[in-house]
Amino acid sequence: SIRCQSTNTKEPKSSNILDNASNLFTNLLSGGSLGSMPTAEGAVSDLFGKPLFLSLYDWFMEHGGVYKLAFGPKAFVVISDPIVARHVLRENAFSYDKGVLAEILEPIMGKGLIPADLDTWKLRRRAITPAFHALYLEAMVKVFSDCSEKMILKSEKLLREKEVSRGEGDTEIELDLEAEFSSLALDIIGLSVFNYDFGSVTKESPVIKAVYGTLFEAEHRSTFYFPYWNFPPARWIVPRQRKFQSDLKIINDCLDGLIQNAKETRQETDVEKLQQRDYSNLKDASLLRFLLRDDLMTMLIAGHETTAAVLTWAVYLLAQSPAKIRKAQAEIDAVLGDGAPTYESLKKLEYIRLIVVESLRLYPQPPLLIRRTLKPETLPGGYKGEKEGHKVPKGTDIFISVYNLHRSPYFWDNPQEFEPERFLRKKESNGIEGWAGFDPSRSPGALYPNEIIADFAFLPFGGGPRKCIGDQFALMESTVALAMLLQKFDVELRGPPESVELVSGATIHAKNGMWCKLKRRSK
Ligand code: HEM
Repeated sequence: SIRCQSTNTKEPKSSNILDNASNLFTNLLSGGSLGSMPTAEGAVSDLFGKPLFLSLYDWFMEHGGVYKLAFGPKAFVVISDPIVARHVLRENAFSYDKGVLAEILEPIMGKGLIPADLDTWKLRRRAITPAFHALYLEAMVKVFSDCSEKMILKSEKLLREKEVSRGEGDTEIELDLEAEFSSLALDIIGLSVFNYDFGSVTKESPVIKAVYGTLFEAEHRSTFYFPYWNFPPARWIVPRQRKFQSDLKIINDCLDGLIQNAKETRQETDVEKLQQRDYSNLKDASLLRFLLRDDLMTMLIAGHETTAAVLTWAVYLLAQSPAKIRKAQAEIDAVLGDGAPTYESLKKLEYIRLIVVESLRLYPQPPLLIRRTLKPETLPGGYKGEKEGHKVPKGTDIFISVYNLHRSPYFWDNPQEFEPERFLRKKESNGIEGWAGFDPSRSPGALYPNEIIADFAFLPFGGGPRKCIGDQFALMESTVALAMLLQKFDVELRGPPESVELVSGATIHAKNGMWCKLKRRSK
C-alpha cells in the first residue's frame, strides 16, 4: 500500500509520535531547506509492496518533476525532468558524486569506474576510454555473433530432441529467456574483456546468480533506514548479509582466476598489434591491458546484467506484438538472409536497432541514477515554467528517475506504448521552455538514438562525463543477439503478460524468469 501526502494538498496528515520524530530527523538531515519542494512520504511497506521505481512514478504524477521523498530518517530529491537532469548530469556534473551508490558499491567494485570519486574517476576514465575504440567494437561484432550462435544452436538442439521424442515435427520448446540472455551476456563479457570463455550458455555458471545477488543487496542497502551491515557481526548473523558475503567471494574468486588466466596466456605479439590498433588476426583483443582490478570487477558486473535485461524486456514487448516480430523478421531476411550479422549489416538493421532502444526506453537499466551534492546547489526551474529552481544543501541525495523521464507524458506521445518507430519522428519542443525537443540531426552519424537527440528526455546510458562507457558495445551486442534469435524462431510468452512480475535489483528483472515458447519460424 502507498501512503503518499503532498505538502501542497490540504488533507490532514496522519500524525503519531514516530512520524513526528522521523520528520524532525529528515529535516535535520536535509537541512530542512528543501522546504518549498513538494514532498512524498513513503511508508516502510512501500519498499516491500512493489519496486521503488514504480512508486516513484506514481508520486511523479502527483508531485511533478522535482519532489522530495522522505522514508523515515532518509530523504531523497527525485528528479523526473530533463532540464534538471541535464543540469545535474552534464552542466554541473562535477558538483555531484555517486553518494549512496558509491557507499553501497564500494564493497563490491572498490574504486571501479561506476562508484569512483571524482579524482579517481578522472584518471581511470582517461585510461579506459581508448579501450572502446571503434575498431575494437567492430572486432567484437564477431564475438557477439559467435556467442549468440551457440545460444541458437542449443535451442535448436532442444527443439529437435523434443521432436524426436514425440515422433512429430513442428513443435515448440519453453525456455526462460532471461536466464539464456544472462548466460549469453556473461559469455560475451568474458571473451571481450577477459579473453575467457565461461561457456555458460551450455553449462550453468554460479557467477550469474552471485552478481544478481550482490546487486539485489545493493538496492536493499540504498533504501534501508540505517547501515546495519557496517556492524561487523551483522555479516555473520543476518542471513542476507551472509549470502552477500558468499556471493562476493564467488565473484572475487572468479576474477582472480580470470586475471591469472590472462597473465598466463598473454601474447606479446597481440599487445604490439593492439598498440598499433591492428585488430586483424588477433588471438586476444580483450580489454585486460587497459584495466585495473576494480575496473575489471565493474565491467564483469555492469557489462552483463544490463544487456541481459535489455534483451529480456525486448522479447517481452515483442512477444505481445506478432506484427512487429514479422516486420523485424522481414528486415532480418532482407539484410542477413541466412547469414550472421556483421558490423556493416548492423547499420542496415534499422528496425532491430530501434526495437532495442525502445525497449530501453520502457525498461531502463538501471531505472534510477544516484547522485549526492558536493556543495550547496540551486537546481534550474523545470518545464512547468518555475523561473527559480529549488535550493538544495550540500550532502543532498538525489535520484534521477530515468524510468519517469522515459514514460513522461510531457515529452512522449503514447508514453506507455511500445512503438520503435517513434524515434524516426522529429518532435518539436511543444513550447516547453528550455527543452529542445527530439532531433536526430543533433547527433549526426549516430547508429542509435541517444540523449543528445532527445535533449535528456531519453537517458538509457546516462549523460555528461559519467555516461556509460560500454553503450555502443551493449547496443550492438543486443542488436546482434535479437536479430539472430528472430532469424530462426517465432517467440511467444508462455503465460499472459500480466503474470510477469517485476522485481528490481539495480536492473529490472522478471521475478520468476521470462518464460517463452520458441517455435521454428513459419516462413
Ligand atoms: C555507466 C547503463 C552496458 C560499463 C553506466 C550508466 C548507465 C549505464 C545508465 C551511468 C551511471 C550513472 O550515471 O550513474 C548501461 C546499460 C547497458 C550498459 C543500459 C546495457 C544495455 C555496459 C557495458 C559496459 C559498461 C557492456 C562495459 C563493458 C560502464 C561503466 C560505467 C557505466 C564503466 C561508468 C562510467 C563512468 O562513470 O565514467 N552504464 N550500461 N556498461 N557503464 Fe554501462
